[in-house]
Amino acid sequence: MEKTIAVIGSSRRNGNTGKLLDHIANELGIEVIDLASKNISPFDYDHKNIDDDFLPLMDHLLKYENIIFASPVYWFAMSAQMKIFIDRMSDFLSVEELKDKGRELRNKVGYIVSTSISEELDRSFINSFADTFGYLGIKYGGFIHMNCNNGFDLSAAEKNIDNFVSKLNIANVNVVI
Ligand SMILES: Cc1cc2nc3c(=O)[nH]c(=O)nc-3n(C[C@H](O)[C@H](O)[C@H](O)COP(=O)(O)O)c2cc1C
Repeated sequence: MEKTIAVIGSSRRNGNTGKLLDHIANELGIEVIDLASKNISPFDYDHKNIDDDFLPLMDHLLKYENIIFASPVYWFAMSAQMKIFIDRMSDFLSVEELKDKGRELRNKVGYIVSTSISEELDRSFINSFADTFGYLGIKYGGFIHMNCNNGFDLSAAEKNIDNFVSKLNIANVNVVI
């Protein structure tokens, strides 16, 4: 099984969240998938959207053990792009043929990368991810948050980034027995 991959949902790919995630991804040597490059529509009770890009994307993500979810804070919450993606996890709970695939999420570890213009990351933001992870059986691995109130300054977040990358690096190592 491959180790780590990241998905980003932001209104701009190369904004603060994208830059922070790219820095982390470069350190880890991992792939980043931009949700904006995918055609993923909101949850549909009738599943008329079952053939959009959600399931192929999930097939790809499920090859990895650690999944990084990157989103800016928009109005105390995750971005709309990320929320649409997360909502679609409900397909795994409501489409009988997809339930086995949904259970594969139980072997995953989820991490959060976020930026905002506040020093502290709102608990509501973290909880919406962590509680969703919990419901789906994804273990919560932790988060990194960067305050971009004074612009994008990697050096101000260096220590946090180092800690986060080290944590992921340990998780990223393929253990050979
Ligand atoms: C629609 C919108 C809502 C926002 N809401 C918040 C917020 O609730 N709290 C906060 O600290 N920053 C908020 N911000 C600021 C962004 O979180 C911040 O600029 C972030 O770094 C943007 O990341 P991006 O470049 O990936 O979009 C908001 C920005 C936008 C555009």
